[in-house]
Amino acid sequence: MRESCRVVKKTLEFVGRNIRAGMTTKQVDELVYKYIISEGATPSSLGYCGYPASSCVSVNEVVVHGIPSDRVLSDGDIVSVDITAEKNGYNGDAARTFLIGNVSEEKRKLVKVTEECFFKALEGLRAGTPLYDIGNAVQTHAESHGYSVVRALVGHGIGREMHEDPSVPNYGKKGTGMRLKAGMTICIEPMINMGTYKVNFSREDGWTVTTADGLPSAHYENTVLITEDGAEILTL
Ligand code: MF3
Ligand code: CO
Ligand code: CO
Repeated sequence: MRESCRVVKKTLEFVGRNIRAGMTTKQVDELVYKYIISEGATPSSLGYCGYPASSCVSVNEVVVHGIPSDRVLSDGDIVSVDITAEKNGYNGDAARTFLIGNVSEEKRKLVKVTEECFFKALEGLRAGTPLYDIGNAVQTHAESHGYSVVRALVGHGIGREMHEDPSVPNYGKKGTGMRLKAGMTICIEPMINMGTYKVNFSREDGWTVTTADGLPSAHYENTVLITEDGAEILTL
């Protein structure tokens, strides 16, 4: 897990150094594909349930699962790049929302609060923590800033498969859910909207998830190992 997660982390850093206005989202995906392969890993999303690319590149109102295309990145966009890589039979999964050029104060704040939501969820996280404490921490922080939490998509366990049990919602009631155990690896991935929490699933491509009101959304994800006395972020 550490090995595949290290590849994901390095790939996202590479994307961060190279992503810029004028590139298409397909060019971003080419960077991702080449980097993952050069590390001796494979992109898990390529061919996953028919998904056609090595990354999900989701611009502005696209929440997640944006299929790389001829869409050109422009100044002021916020772009979530979500990558899963497999090495030696194990997966790592992480996402960052990148800022393209001059991004409005409003959108920058959304991206910042979304990252903070992840770290709020990590506070006190360890073996024995009730699962829905994670979502409760994310939801409390997002809503305190007037944002909303996507309900239709959730985080997940990860290991030999990209998606394993349990589901890890970004909302929930404190003190409820299964108790986490040392050795579990889960993906915590807040998807936070500026407006409504409601989303639409594309009827055309079967993947793209967009906000129902067209307002921006941000995404931040890491693979996390639960330990006896804490939690280790494997993709950071
Ligand atoms: N990486 C995504 C997640 O965080 C899953 C993408 S599946 C794909 O769960 F097929 F859309 F790539
Ligand atoms: Co992901
Ligand atoms: Co994930």
